[in-house]
Amino acid sequence: MATPIPIVRRTKLELGLDQDIPVHWHGGRAFETRMLDALSTLFVEGERFFISAVRHYEDRITDPALRAEVRAFMAQEGQHSALHGKFNDQLRAQGIDVDAIEALSRRAFDFVLNRYPRFALARTAAAEHFTAMFAESLLDADGLLAGADARMQALYTWHGVEEIEHKAVAFDVLQKVARVPYPIRALGLFDVTMLLTLRLIMIANQLWKHDGLGRRTRMGYSLRALGWLFGPRGFIGRRGRGYLAYLKPSFHPWQHPLPDGYKKWVDAYARVGDAVFASDLVHGAAS
Ligand SMILES: [Fe+2]
Ligand SMILES: [Fe+2]
Repeated sequence: MATPIPIVRRTKLELGLDQDIPVHWHGGRAFETRMLDALSTLFVEGERFFISAVRHYEDRITDPALRAEVRAFMAQEGQHSALHGKFNDQLRAQGIDVDAIEALSRRAFDFVLNRYPRFALARTAAAEHFTAMFAESLLDADGLLAGADARMQALYTWHGVEEIEHKAVAFDVLQKVARVPYPIRALGLFDVTMLLTLRLIMIANQLWKHDGLGRRTRMGYSLRALGWLFGPRGFIGRRGRGYLAYLKPSFHPWQHPLPDGYKKWVDAYARVGDAVFASDLVHGAAS
């Protein structure tokens, strides 16, 4: 199925990530801020993993359209890695050992990439589905990013927009080039859902501890994290059926329509070239 929208390379984004950003940038809330910070610490190595998993099959791609999409996908993911890396420097300045978190991710990712490239691709395609669903929730105008610092809101909104644009690329490589069988593809979704949830909660705990939160609060927050992800109003939970559709053997990412926030952001960005303004518009802070 052809990509209905272009995968755009946006390289001159000004998000103000080198300015001072409050520690609890999500409206002063430690819970939400640190869940998203935990995600940010996973992006740098995570995006590299996705790029490597797809690159492994690049030489076997004969369709010129898919080749071009793969290159655009790599460019977008590379840019995501770079800008989250920039934000992660703020976490480093807070005294958080981001390097140790990334080193652990890198070792785990390299193990799979070197030994099981097909499974690395299945994990990547599933992670792209996870991030596309997560991105749709980020683009919802009803509050998941409400009250957040405008620069951080813009970072996640822009990232969300691009995750939606390239959501089918790894999947197409998996199906058309690597021809990964259905059971491995489905296993990829279980693997990503479980691992990502566990790792996110573990890292968020580390960050809450750094904030001085006690054990009981952290345990409560860990349970709340499950609702934040999979509850009926959660990032993945609110997409319910859309998320599970990945398990249908006939699934393709473009069977799912574009969310309203996507078009709003793209139109605003094309008009003014300002990712913070476009994000404000999506989240109702500009008109
Ligand atoms: Fe990304
Ligand atoms: Fe992605």
